Amino acid sequence: MIKVSAPGKLMLLGEHAVVYGQPCIVTAVDQRLVVEAEKTEDGKITIDAPDVKNTSFVKEVIHQFVEKWNIKHNGLKINTKSAFSGVYGFGSSAASTVATLKALTALFNVHVDNKALFDLAYTVTLKVQGLGSGFDVASSIYGGTIYFLTGGKTIEPLNIHNLPLIIGYCGVKSSTVEMVKMVGEKRNKFPEKVERIFQGVAKLVEDAKSRMLEGDWERVGKLMDFNQEYLRDLGVSSEKLEALISAAKKAGAFGAKLSGAGGGDCMIAIGANDKREAIQKAITEAGGQVIDVRANAQGVGVETTDDQQELFIVVDKNDNVLGYRSRYDCHHDKTLIHRTVGAVVFDEKGSVLLQKRSSTKDMGAGLWGISCAGHVRKGQEYEEALHRELTEELGVDIPVEYVTKFIVADEDETEMSALYKGISNGPFKPNPKEVERLEFFSPRELAFKLATREVVLTKCAEVSLQKAGVL
Ligand code: MEV
Repeated sequence: MIKVSAPGKLMLLGEHAVVYGQPCIVTAVDQRLVVEAEKTEDGKITIDAPDVKNTSFVKEVIHQFVEKWNIKHNGLKINTKSAFSGVYGFGSSAASTVATLKALTALFNVHVDNKALFDLAYTVTLKVQGLGSGFDVASSIYGGTIYFLTGGKTIEPLNIHNLPLIIGYCGVKSSTVEMVKMVGEKRNKFPEKVERIFQGVAKLVEDAKSRMLEGDWERVGKLMDFNQEYLRDLGVSSEKLEALISAAKKAGAFGAKLSGAGGGDCMIAIGANDKREAIQKAITEAGGQVIDVRANAQGVGVETTDDQQELFIVVDKNDNVLGYRSRYDCHHDKTLIHRTVGAVVFDEKGSVLLQKRSSTKDMGAGLWGISCAGHVRKGQEYEEALHRELTEELGVDIPVEYVTKFIVADEDETEMSALYKGISNGPFKPNPKEVERLEFFSPRELAFKLATREVVLTKCAEVSLQKAGVL
């Protein structure tokens, strides 16, 4: 079974204009939707999604995924659990689309980057909803705060910390589809006026992007105010939203606006830390509900048993130690070359032992790796780390011989990998947290299973097997 979670989102600036080719800025929020996916043998597709108001997205994801990658299966079970309420407009449909898609790619070992994930998720959005810019699925995939252009023409993660955001729900649920249609009708009726509004919004979004990167929150607040004026002109604000926006500003916010399609849902304000409490109080007193979520949250990911704070050793291209960074950082920044170690174990007949990585690994879940591999932790040498890994993953320690050391990069990370080899017929006691299955392959069996894609290797395993003379 694969478990994946995806965040909700909040539009910061640029709503509506983004549907017509202009940019917007959106942040992911740390209320997450979880999807569990598993293969069954009953020939049915079972979807249990009690918190998702429209399961058409999940159904369409399965349809598109199976079609695009020509997937054969004997049944599927999809189960969703949402930590956030559908009423705030955080985007439960987008999160369920993204989380289901990511879970299916992990379940069937389909390797796609974020952009390919976005393209398919956006196709699903358009099929089910008929319109939309795709900013919500992009936010759910990439996480953090992104600058986004309609249809994903540009998706640029912004390196922002400490977004001083305050969120208020106005108590009225709104329909994005209805609001987008309403703006569309207005655009048909008054094309010049609406185009002028969209151009104005685009300009302020560009300015806000640089100001956010500088941390100039006072100016960002002002730009939010300008954006709100445009939204008011478009006719998508409401009395309730206006009341909360004006209360937040009176209490000292740098700026405030509605967030999303308008007509209801949430407003957002930017404020200095020492004004935060006063702004929240003012929003409550004006009849709003303050929503306590963290912005800039992590994008979609397989729920993992790996400790994301574990410290790895970061090196330069010549393996000189530069410092120490967390597992999470090393797996999300290709410039952080970090030390790993692995062993290729043969039995006495020359068959090679491979491991199918457990579905809860943060990287390469469900793919095949060499016999044993892991990271070199702070304070350890390569060979010392390998003996620890052999015991942890295979339940045995064996003598090993050094083969070589090399740099290997895939689309997420770059490793400095030291390779060893050893001989053992087992028996092994694989650790289920790390290893789903261990299997010896003769060279012929391996060649066949690679050709039929019954065995799909991680990039590091592929290079390691070449270096060890197996491939
Ligand atoms: C809705 O949250 C934001 C809109 O811009 C629609 C969209 O971008 O798909 C109104």
